[in-house]
Amino acid sequence: IGHEIHYFNEVDSTNNVAKELAKDGAVEGTIVIAESQSMGRGRRGKKWISPEGGIWMSIILRPKINPAKAPQLTLVTGVAVAETLKNECGLDVGIKWPNDILVGEKKVCGILTEAQATTKKVEYLIVGIGIDLNVDVKLFPPKLREGATSLKNELEKEIHSAELIQKFLLNFENRYNEFKEDKFPEILKQWRMFSKTIGSYVEVHKRGRTVKGEAVGINKDGILILELEDGSLEKVVSGECIHVKK
Ligand code: BTN
Repeated sequence: IGHEIHYFNEVDSTNNVAKELAKDGAVEGTIVIAESQSMGRGRRGKKWISPEGGIWMSIILRPKINPAKAPQLTLVTGVAVAETLKNECGLDVGIKWPNDILVGEKKVCGILTEAQATTKKVEYLIVGIGIDLNVDVKLFPPKLREGATSLKNELEKEIHSAELIQKFLLNFENRYNEFKEDKFPEILKQWRMFSKTIGSYVEVHKRGRTVKGEAVGINKDGILILELEDGSLEKVVSGECIHVKK
């Protein structure tokens, strides 16, 4: 991971640049980093605010896996981010299923995994990681400000970006290798320790339908299990959006 790094001042979205590179045959582990993004993308078509000071990065992967397992990489990446922030910054880090990294109750990082695959084969995966590092979320639009924080806001000092990226890439490489060696259950154990979702009451938007229930666990495939009010169980895959209710 990271033998080939493409570094930019500004791009529209590092995921878009990574996709173009992947189409042109970029090798597994190629990384795209930008200081800012003019059209950073979040999940479900949302805009991702990406000013200078944050870590905006995409990793090209070409794992030989069943495409159904691609969403598991979001959880693998989440664990790598969470352990990096915990170890390097000593913060109370948590994960909100499937992909938000929280400090306390506020989001500090989001992950956007995009796949180019058929039902049989993954051609490439782009894992996009956005970390609010040396940015001030007080400058974000009011709607986003409430639920967001940055490492600078939490620690009241700036953190060396290149060092944190390096630490993250080492952790990511270890986790990704475990994943390829079919050790996803071990990664899930870590994920469960960071989880802020299991045990809480959540609302899920599933193809136009809203499902409410308690998140009771995550199964071996990384699928979230909800217990609904009538006692029945409902599975949620990571493409769906959840809201944690207090
Ligand atoms: C989310 O939580 O909605 C996911 C946010 C993902 C943001 C990152 S920043 C780097 C990469 N490029 C993008 O356009 N998005 C991802």
